[in-house]
Amino acid sequence: MESNLFDLSGKTALITGGSRGIGLAVAKGLARHGANITLVARTEKQLEQAQRQIQEETNKHTWTFPFDLAQTDQIEDLFENIIKETKGINILVNCAGITRRAPAEDINLNDWGQVIDVNLTAVFAISQAFCRHRKHIGAGGKPATLMAGKIINIGSLMCHAARPTNTAYASSKGGILMLTKSLAVE
Ligand SMILES: NC(=O)c1ccc[n+]([C@@H]2O[C@H](COP(=O)([O-])OP(=O)(O)OC[C@H]3O[C@@H](n4cnc5c(N)ncnc54)[C@H](OP(=O)(O)O)[C@@H]3O)[C@@H](O)[C@H]2O)c1
Repeated sequence: MESNLFDLSGKTALITGGSRGIGLAVAKGLARHGANITLVARTEKQLEQAQRQIQEETNKHTWTFPFDLAQTDQIEDLFENIIKETKGINILVNCAGITRRAPAEDINLNDWGQVIDVNLTAVFAISQAFCRHRKHIGAGGKPATLMAGKIINIGSLMCHAARPTNTAYASSKGGILMLTKSLAVE
């Protein structure tokens, strides 16, 4: 019997920060293995370019949602809109990330808050919406496999290591490590 463990046909993956860099590479990789793709980032033009590239290279459907993940109180609404449009998300890749570099004694709380909001709070909020969505799909005595979803969080060397002038980023990535473990045990 032949089975292809990497076949993602019929699945849809949501990649935050999928408009460029690591997120775009992940999106293309998932699309090459059969997944349809949903991208979230702020810059509309870059999202459109990424969408074109993915569709041309892989022929997989790609939706784009321009959104600033620092608006953490609007993430639930964003996720609802995504579900309406895509009809369901199977894989969530939390890749969007930023840094604001400054010595710890100089960093202002606005910059600190931006980094924590985008790199950590937004990851929690969208993961929470995703988990509720998968549970809802599996509710009502349907097989547990229907609930199954995957969350992939992009960490960093700085989940573990500290470097000067990157306190907010390191704190957010250290948080990502424990958020990932906490979600995994639940
Ligand atoms: N590059 C590295 O060497 C490295 C090393 C370790 C870990 N990482 C991690 O890998 C991830 C991706 O890094 P990268 O180097 O590929 O970054 P990048 O090229 O700067 O791309 C960041 C992505 O996130 C999006 N983004 C940033 N702020 C956002 C916001 N407020 N709301 C929505 N989307 C936002 C960007 O689009 P917009 O700007 O248009 O919003 C873009 O799509 C990050 O989590 C980073 O911490 C990177």
